[in-house]
Amino acid sequence: MISEKMVKAINEQINKEIYSAYLYAGMAIYAGSVGLNGVMNWFQLQAKEELGHAAKFMAYVNEQGSRVMLKAIDAPDQKFTSVASLFDKTLEHEKEVTASINSLVFLAKKEADYATDGLLQWFVKEQVEEEASVADIIQKLEIGGKAGNSLLILDGILAQRK
Ligand code: FEO
Repeated sequence: MISEKMVKAINEQINKEIYSAYLYAGMAIYAGSVGLNGVMNWFQLQAKEELGHAAKFMAYVNEQGSRVMLKAIDAPDQKFTSVASLFDKTLEHEKEVTASINSLVFLAKKEADYATDGLLQWFVKEQVEEEASVADIIQKLEIGGKAGNSLLILDGILAQRK
């Protein structure tokens, strides 16, 4: 059994994970609209992964004998000006998610809730990977920037994500 406070905090995190999926779905739509189908593929899979994160939290709350209460999901910002900017926004967003996961870890430790802390360690690791993969894409775009066709090359690479 986990505390009501923890259930509430996890509920908030579930909302953030689904919002992330919504944000990345919007980015996928934008990338597709400018003909970069590889980038679209990458963001579609990113969105799917976020729903997986939400599902992981939902299953955990259920296992702990509590109930998730879904909340409204805000509409994401969709005023994109370039495909390159999508990745900057993604890294910025993932850093916010990392901070949010860290707050949950802080709460779990404060409550001596070792089960939730254990679950959260998976997310801590996942956030390190997520930030690193986006930072890597941004770096590739910067390196290839002068060549002028770096977006097309990157599009080919991101098309391979499965
Ligand atoms: Fe669910 Fe991208 O963090």
